[in-house]
Amino acid sequence: MNPKLHISTHGCQMNEYDSSRMRDLLEKEFAAEWTDSAAEADILLLNTCSIRDKAQEKVFHQLGRWRPLKKTNPKLIIGVGGCVASQEGEALRHRAPYVDVIFGPQTLHRLPELIRQAQNSQRKIIDISFPTIEKFDHLPKPRVEGPRAFVSIMEGCSKYCSFCVVPYTRGEEVSRPHLDILSEIQHLASQGVREVTLLGQNVNGYRCPTEELRFAQLLGLIDRIEGIERLRYTTSHPLEFTDDLIAAHAQLPSLVDHVHLPVQSGSDRILAMMKRNYTAIEYKSIIRKLRAQQPNISISSDFIVGFPGETDEDFEATMQLIEQIGFDQSYSFIYSARAGTPAANLADDTPMEVKKQRLNILQSRVTQHAQRISEQMIGSIQRVLVDGYAKKDPGQLQGRTTNNRVINFATDDDSLIGQFTDVRVLQVSYNSLIGELVSEMAHELVTSD
Ligand code: SAH
Ligand code: F3S
Repeated sequence: MNPKLHISTHGCQMNEYDSSRMRDLLEKEFAAEWTDSAAEADILLLNTCSIRDKAQEKVFHQLGRWRPLKKTNPKLIIGVGGCVASQEGEALRHRAPYVDVIFGPQTLHRLPELIRQAQNSQRKIIDISFPTIEKFDHLPKPRVEGPRAFVSIMEGCSKYCSFCVVPYTRGEEVSRPHLDILSEIQHLASQGVREVTLLGQNVNGYRCPTEELRFAQLLGLIDRIEGIERLRYTTSHPLEFTDDLIAAHAQLPSLVDHVHLPVQSGSDRILAMMKRNYTAIEYKSIIRKLRAQQPNISISSDFIVGFPGETDEDFEATMQLIEQIGFDQSYSFIYSARAGTPAANLADDTPMEVKKQRLNILQSRVTQHAQRISEQMIGSIQRVLVDGYAKKDPGQLQGRTTNNRVINFATDDDSLIGQFTDVRVLQVSYNSLIGELVSEMAHELVTSD
């Protein structure tokens, strides 16, 4: 009988991507069948995140819930991958001895081998090494689900922000050869993919290992691939946001008018302590140049509040930056000290209550800005890539606008699924938009005005 596979994924888009590649690999190697239920699985994997304390604690809770499944299914293999596995390795084996396989983000391609070893020897198998980019050479072609797909272009991070575990859990930056990336995207396009999101911890640090080719040039090559009409990337870093990348936003038709560019703080003092290597003015200068190229570009970001030593004035500087930029939907977090990072040794005397207040103030302000951006879209006609049926109402279809908002609209034309269509925005609902389909003729009238 084919083994049943279940993977539970915590954390970032990179982990989502890695999990889908693990699934591709195990379906190919073991003819594994996917199940949505952990209780039914014969191979049960947890892809973990250690970016903040809470994420890490979730791992042990989840493993504790899985433990009894070993009694009902003695052949069950439990594997733990991702950043907690990478960082905890041996410690994880002691804290959760019933785990059979422990593998890091860079060794997931060895999973079939590791699982076989565990099955044959009843031993615990650990492989959390950082073999450079060989991972991608050993993965099958990605499975296509719908018109949007993710493609990893680089792994790891060499920025070493003082608060962050990523360089330690995922290793230093390593880029994939550009020809591998292009051929993967061509394959996706031939399967009906219309939108690609390039993934990496630091995509604009991309450097092709085989040729003198940087991120902006890679974007130019992808833009020319037949069928790929929309191109996104995440996440970029302000430090290598070069002028040729800014120019690409004006030049490449497929590049969306949305950039996720984490700033973390608006205070130069905190930015220096975070080792971000830019100032608030430098960040604003990038955004000004981007807006000169693409006036409608929407900018989203990541913020950390309550970094050790953050004063009211520092926080005020972040709020000022938020006013000046008018960020779109963004992520914000309370600082979480991570063992092994330089910031973990800094004195941190701001009470948690104050940090929570700051987070609330920041989040409600960013939400207001995002809401205003949504409201300004009312009446406009948006190019929407249709993903499928709306979650709550199968009489409606659901798609995404260029600035990555979900939009629902009524239609009985299923053939739009997987295609681009024009939708007029009618209303803003909580986290999404409601629109109406614009018929081809109406569209011509509007665009010829
Ligand atoms: N290059 C990736 C970084 C991944 S971490 C990116 O820019 O998305 C994602 C976000 O988590 C970071 O931007 C930061 O805002 C947040 N983060 C990272 N380490 C953190 C920590 N120790 N405490 C709180 N937030 C953290
Ligand atoms: Fe982390 Fe800074 Fe890299 S936030 S992923 S070390 S850019």
